[in-house]
Order: sequence, then C-alpha cells, then structure tokens
Amino acid sequence: MRKRDPRIVLGLHRSRYERRILTSALDLGIDAIDTSFNYHGFSAHAALATVGSDLLPRFKLSTKVGFFPAVGQAEHSLDPDRLREALEQTNRDLGRAPDLVFLHNPERSLPGSSSVAQDTLGMACAAVERAAAEGLCGGWGISSWDPRPLPSLVDGTIPRPDAVMVRAGLLAGIDSLEASETLAARWDLNPTQLWGMSPFGGSATQPLWGKLDPRLFIQDPDEGLSTVQATFRTAYWLPRVGGIAVGTDSPSHLAELVDTLRYEANTGSLRTYRQLLRERADRQLL
Ligand SMILES: NC(=O)c1ccc[n+]([C@@H]2O[C@H](COP(=O)([O-])OP(=O)(O)OC[C@H]3O[C@@H](n4cnc5c(N)ncnc54)[C@H](OP(=O)(O)O)[C@@H]3O)[C@@H](O)[C@H]2O)c1
Repeated sequence: MRKRDPRIVLGLHRSRYERRILTSALDLGIDAIDTSFNYHGFSAHAALATVGSDLLPRFKLSTKVGFFPAVGQAEHSLDPDRLREALEQTNRDLGRAPDLVFLHNPERSLPGSSSVAQDTLGMACAAVERAAAEGLCGGWGISSWDPRPLPSLVDGTIPRPDAVMVRAGLLAGIDSLEASETLAARWDLNPTQLWGMSPFGGSATQPLWGKLDPRLFIQDPDEGLSTVQATFRTAYWLPRVGGIAVGTDSPSHLAELVDTLRYEANTGSLRTYRQLLRERADRQLL
C-alpha cells in the first residue's frame, strides 16, 4: 500500500462504477473520489453504495449538485430548494454525508444581468453553505467548466467556498485559466483549495496528444515519462492547482498517473506557453 497522496482525486464522471478501481485507488494511496448527483444516469451515489459501501468510509468523497432529471435530458437549476432536496437524497443514497459538495457548473443558470446573476449565485451558495452547517455535507465548493462569468460576481456578499474546481491542463484555454486564477484570488483560496479537473479533456487518445510533446513542460523528464503522463502532470500548473480530478477505470493507468507526481515543472517553458496563448487571444480580438 502506497503512502496517501491527496493530489489525485479519482473522478467518476465516465466510470463504470466497479469495485476494482476503488480498491486499486486505495492501494495506490488515492483516497479521494469525485462524483455527482447526475453521473451514471443520476444513479452514481446508489451505484457507489452498492459496489463499495464498506469502502466509502475510507474515502474523502466529493459530489456535485445542479443538474436534475428532466424529460429527455438533464436540466440545470440553482433553485435553493431543489439543491437542498438533491443534497438530502445524496445523503440517503450514499448512506453517509459527502465530505464536500460542489455547486455544479453554476454559470449554466446565471442570467445576463450581473445584479440578478449575483443574487442567484449568492442564494445558491448560501443554500449549500447552510446544508454544510447542518451536517448534510462536510464543506462546499464550486465546480465550474467555464468560470469566465464568475470573478466579476464575487464581492463581499457571496459566501466564500471551501474549494473551487476548474478545468486544468493544455486544453483549458487562456481565458479559462485566467478566470480561474482571478476567481481563486478574489476568494483568497490557498493552493490546496483550487482543484483541477479533466486534464485530458475527457480522452487521452485525442489526435492533439500525438502532435504536441508535453514533456517540454517538465523539468528533467526521463525516458520513463510518457506523453500521457506529462500531459497529466502539466495540468497541475495550468492553472496552479493542489489536486486534480482525473477519470480512469484502469488500475494500471491510475498507477501511471501516481508515478508522475515526482516530476516538477519547467517554469520557463510554461511561462512562454502562457504568453503565446495570451498573445494569440489578443490578436484574435483585433
Ligand atoms: N463541470 C464539472 O464539474 C466537471 C466536468 C468534467 C469533469 N469533471 C471532473 O473531472 C473528472 C475527470 O474528467 P473526465 O473523465 O471528463 O476527463 P479526463 O480525466 O480528462 O479523461 C479521462 C480519460 O482519460 C483516460 N486516462 C486516464 N489516465 C490514463 C492513462 N494513464 N493512460 C491512458 N488513458 C488514461 C481514461 O481512460 P481509461 O479509463 O482507459 O484509463 C479516461 O477515458 C470527472 O470524473 C469529474 O470528477 C468535472
């Protein structure tokens, strides 16, 4: 059994919810899992309890609320009563309170007017903050696929989350990276409170990974470091995050990811890369 390392969170978005990956994660020192009310066709919590109710007490478990079942497809809502009901059901389905509950992609339900958006976000945050105070979850946060609208809404009136999760890595885009950093700064989050997610953009076999050599962003890479591994490790610095939620059903893939944590950043090439992204975005605005 490897020593615990909190920098990897096993993300269960695309998971088959098999017991094997949960036990392998624990063996590899990964004791954080991230799921959501809407994953696995809205049955992720029940599926987890079915395959691993005895394992769940050993994990730090985060989940998300914001998407609800609707005819034909899921619908998004920040209605405080619906968020609360989802949290109560989450506790029933898991058989325990989650350690952390994220508001899931709140940007999806924020109206155009910034004062109304601020009220909507503030009330949703207050609902999960209250739920945490009442013991329905250990803490709360915001998980945002597109954080660009959020920083301008954060003033002294919006409750401060315990954690924020944002896209990380080479596919995240400079606007998203900068918005994530501004958001973390507005709330004065420490590095462990900012999490990254989806370091491969959902697939480690996309054609881009064959064209770009991410080992460029690693200090002293050796022969043993594959491009997939370097892609993963690089995501910790784009933006700077304390942990990353990454998906896999494969114990050997998870072991490969754990192996990358000993590598450090090539700060020079990361700085250049960010400058190039910023210059390209500025040119597109002209
Ligand atoms: N808005 C949100 O809140 C949001 C949105 C997206 C994601 N997330 C979080 O982020 C987590 C991860 O996101 P994601 O699943 O979309 O994308 P991801 O982690 O970028 O990609 C997952 C894919 O990478 C592959 N992979 C992982 N390690 C590998 C390795 N060593 N070698 C080869 N392939 C590897 C996996 O395939 P194998 O199974 O074959 O290993 C899987 O198909 C989610 O589970 C969720 O927790 C949150």
